[in-house]
Formats: sequence, C-alpha cells, structure tokens
Amino acid sequence: MSFKVLITDKIESVCADVFAKASFLAEEKPTLPAKDVEAIIGGYDALVVRSATEVTEAILKKGTEGALKIVGRAGAGVDNIDLAAAKRLGVEVINTPGVNANAVAELVISYLIILSRKLWPALDSLKAGKWDKKSLTGFEIKGKTIGLIGLGAVGRLTAAKAKALGLKVLGYDPYFSADSAETLGVKKAELSEIFSQSDFISLHLPKTPETTNLVNQTTLALMKKSAFLINCARGGLVDEKALYVALKEGHLAGAAADVFEEEPPGPSPLLELPNFVASPHIGASTVEAQLGVAIKAAELIVEYLTKGSFTS
Ligand code: MLT
Repeated sequence: MSFKVLITDKIESVCADVFAKASFLAEEKPTLPAKDVEAIIGGYDALVVRSATEVTEAILKKGTEGALKIVGRAGAGVDNIDLAAAKRLGVEVINTPGVNANAVAELVISYLIILSRKLWPALDSLKAGKWDKKSLTGFEIKGKTIGLIGLGAVGRLTAAKAKALGLKVLGYDPYFSADSAETLGVKKAELSEIFSQSDFISLHLPKTPETTNLVNQTTLALMKKSAFLINCARGGLVDEKALYVALKEGHLAGAAADVFEEEPPGPSPLLELPNFVASPHIGASTVEAQLGVAIKAAELIVEYLTKGSFTS
C-alpha cells in the first residue's frame, strides 16, 4: 500500500527523498495557508510541519475524517500542534527532539560571547565610522557561573560546552537527578539559587502553562544587576514587558533572545534597547540540523505507517 504525505513549511528536500525511497507519495506545499491545509488534509495519511503551520483542531478533525494518522514535527517544540485534539482524535504526533540540539546549544554559546565581549555594539559602532575601543571593554566568561533552567538535550549540550569554556554550571530540572547532573559536571540548584547566583541564565524549557512567564518581574528582581539572560528556547517563557523594564532601569546588564512571545515580534520596545540582542528564531537553522530533523521526521513517519508502531 502506498501512503500519501503532505509537507507544509519549508523543510529540506531530503524529507521527501526518504518518503520516495519508501514508495510513499510526498507532496511539498510550503507556505500553504491553514484554510487550504484544512481543505486537502483528508487526502493524506501524514502531515509534516516545521513551526509555521499551526496544526489546529480543525485541521486534525478534517484529517481524521479522511486518512490522516500521524503528524510529524521536523524540530523539537510541538507547541504549534494541538496535542490534546490529536490525542482525542487518535492522531499520532512525533517530533525530533535532540536532533537539532547542538545547533541551539551553539547559538547559546555564541550569545554568551556576543554579550560578554559587546560584539553587537562593537560591530554597530565600527560600521557607524567609530573606533571606540574604550566603551567596548568586555569581560571573560571563564570562571563565571551559568545557570541552566532545563537539562534536556539542549540544556545538557550547553552544559558540556560551557564547562569546556571554563564556566561553572548550575542546573535546575525537576526531572534530572543530582547524580546525573554531577556526571555532567553540573551542580543541581533550586530556581531561586539559579536566579540569584548566576552571571548568565539560559532557558531550556518547552512552553507550557507552568513555564509561561517563568522569568517575570519577581524572578528578574532576584538576578544580579551584572547578569545576563539568554532565551533560545521559547517565546512566552519570559515576560517581555518585565524584561524591558529590568533592562531599561539597569536591574539586569543585558539579554539575548532568539524567540519572542509573538513571532515576528513587530516593533517591540525591547529591540530599541542597546543591551538587548536578538535573532529571528534561528536556533535550529543550520544546514546540519535542518537535514537531520527532515530525515528523522520522515523516517519516524515511514516506520509508523508501515509497521503501526515505533521500534524505539
Ligand atoms: C524547534 O522547536 O526545534 C526549534 O524551535 C526550531 C524550529 O522552529 O524549527
């Protein structure tokens, strides 16, 4: 039996190649509006998305009125998929956690160095014709403390890289034992200790009702005035209004974000602050990560549709 797969969002063509090898019919329709996905989804056994397509209850319902059995997310976060509706309707959901983790961890490390060495203002000022060495004195990250909130695949890789750069690593993760943390060279800490003792805090959490606005006016107030916040995980983990106030009033030295509550963020006041640096959700945007997630998502879907379950 041949299965049909709809690929929305821009996903590397190796994804379709895996399906072709399994004699599946894969159709790539990137940037298809939700209404159009809804109109045609019933004709497919599987849907593959990245982060642009919102896989709503309406799409899942239409899908299951037809042939839809599985939705694959080529990436880690599944917050663009209505998981409750998928469960209710019996649609399997897979993602590819870990496959793009190194790309995200490398971006976090880049931000550590960008922030500590004032690389962003250095570039801006040089391009503006200045040779302003004095105001661009930075500091070394060696010997500083980074607090990681969340020790999943990205958090653990970030810990290893930070250790190699000579940082002390504190980690908070209720699902991670103190022994496992120690093996990683991470000291397990309470959230309040992470906020109050870290020179850098980096978030490595999914966005859930429990983690939404975890970084807020109260937790920001616990941070050292000399500290920096890095969020390459999910928008909505940080209360952006509270962050703006903390940065503007000098309660925090600086912050970096690859993710926003709303994406794109529009004319966010944060973007006007000199001590805020940001990128447009490019954590997983490396050649290696995008090939990896595209292949893995396709392989899992082929396995599920042909065998009815997963071997691992
Ligand atoms: C993920 O969830 O894997 C990352 O946020 C990257 C992406 O949006 O694909």
